Parts: sequence; C-alpha cells; structure tokens
Amino acid sequence: MEFNVFTTQSPKKHQWFSLHFIGDVHIGQGNHNREKLLERIDTIKKDPHALWMGMGDYGDHIYYTDPRFDLNSVDSTITVGELRDGIMGQIRKICDDMEPIKDRCIGLVTGNHEETILKKYHVDPTREIAFRLNVPYGGYCCLTKISVGYKGSSYSLKVFAHHGYGAGRRHGVQINKIEDALRVAPNADIFVMGHVHGKALSTLETIDITERGAMVLKQKLFMITGSYSDTYRQGVLSYAEKGMFTQAGLGSPTAQFRRYANGHGKNAKLELKGVL
Ligand SMILES: [Fe+2]
Repeated sequence: MEFNVFTTQSPKKHQWFSLHFIGDVHIGQGNHNREKLLERIDTIKKDPHALWMGMGDYGDHIYYTDPRFDLNSVDSTITVGELRDGIMGQIRKICDDMEPIKDRCIGLVTGNHEETILKKYHVDPTREIAFRLNVPYGGYCCLTKISVGYKGSSYSLKVFAHHGYGAGRRHGVQINKIEDALRVAPNADIFVMGHVHGKALSTLETIDITERGAMVLKQKLFMITGSYSDTYRQGVLSYAEKGMFTQAGLGSPTAQFRRYANGHGKNAKLELKGVL
C-alpha cells in the first residue's frame, strides 16, 4: 500500500479537471493497441487541466525464456534487438511514450505482469518507470490525495486505486469488486480498478451532516479502467482469445472533477463525473 499527495493549481475558481486512468497497456503484446494509446497521450498533452494515473500492466513482460512465451501473441513489429533488450527495452519504450505527460501523472500503480517480473528477476518495472519519470510509485494499491490550489485557498479529493484481482468477466462482478473498496477507504471520492480489461462505471451518493446541522450529499465514483490490448485482432492469437473473453473495453475512463460553490460562496461541494 502506498500513499501519495499530488498538488496542482486551478486557473479559475470552478475549473473542471480531467483525471485519465491509463492501464493494462501491454506493450510488446501482438494485441497492444498503439494507435489508441498515442491518441490518449495526445489528448492529455493538449489539455492543460488533464491529469492521469497509471493502473499497471504497462508492458506485457513475457520474454522468450518464459514458459508463457508464445510467438502467436508477440508484437510482430518487435525487432531482434528489442527482444534482446528484454525488460529494460520495454521500460525505455514506456518511459519514452509517457515522457511528454509525466508532469501530470499523479502516480503509477503496478500490475500483475510487473509483479511476475519482480518475483522472477528481482526487477520492478513499475518502480523503475516511476523513478525514471520522477512520478509517484503507487504499489499494487494506492491512496492519493489531490490538492487543488486557487488564490491562496485549496480543496482536495482522494483516489483509491488498485490494479485488480480475480477474473470476473461480467461488469456486475467487476463493479461489485471496486464498490467493495468503499469498505477499505470510506473517505475516498474516486475508486478505480484495472486488470479485467473492461470499462464500467457506477456512482453513489452518501449523506453527511455539517457543523451547523445541515444535510450534505457526497458523491462517490467507481470505475473499471479499460485497456490498450484488443482481445481479438486479425492474425494474432491471444491468451484472451483462447479463453473466449469478450472484446476488451479499450481506452481510458476519465473522472472529471471540480469544486463548486454558489455565488455567495456557500454550499461548496466536490462535483464528480465519470466518462467511459
Ligand atoms: Fe492486464
């Protein structure tokens, strides 16, 4: 478990921010959808109010001495030199991709593919990428406080992120799992989980009471954070295809947030929206 704080500034009072979740990228795999990944990086680069968080499985990290290695699943554009460079080659590639948006990264959660490499070869790809990009390392599970400053005042929101576990295929199972995180970190506002290569969203409003006895509603947002790996692709035979998984939910679900108060500065609250 990791705990991180990320600080940013708001250019105006009620500025909306977008927090993109980029995970299950699987660079090196034949099914990796590079076009969509580069598109998303460009979107983040062009939006001065975009932030992002990495959700793990950045590289596929299955190399030729691994019993799981299958030439049918490997990216056919990989050169012999890249194969030779192995783990460090994929780390460099991911760092190159993320370099233009590294200043907007609130943290990098690690995935099961990186954890396997750590166990087998004593190298943690995610920790290395975080070190090279100088962004917070998020471990397998992370609670991040985002602090937004505006003219001497500030507000904050909390993001609970977990790479994910198990293999529930239906959205109901996946959403139930991330909603369970409310029992782990009840004060978080946004709850996200990857791993299942799907996209899903649900919301909840909880009630609270102010110092003066007024009721307040607090929004909670739950999301399954997508993938950049197609399940089915012509000419490629993937592990997911063998398991007859449904086509992956591609892309990066995004949480949009702002602090809003009425004209008299009263009833200030955090507004949250999820976009799949
Ligand atoms: Fe994955």
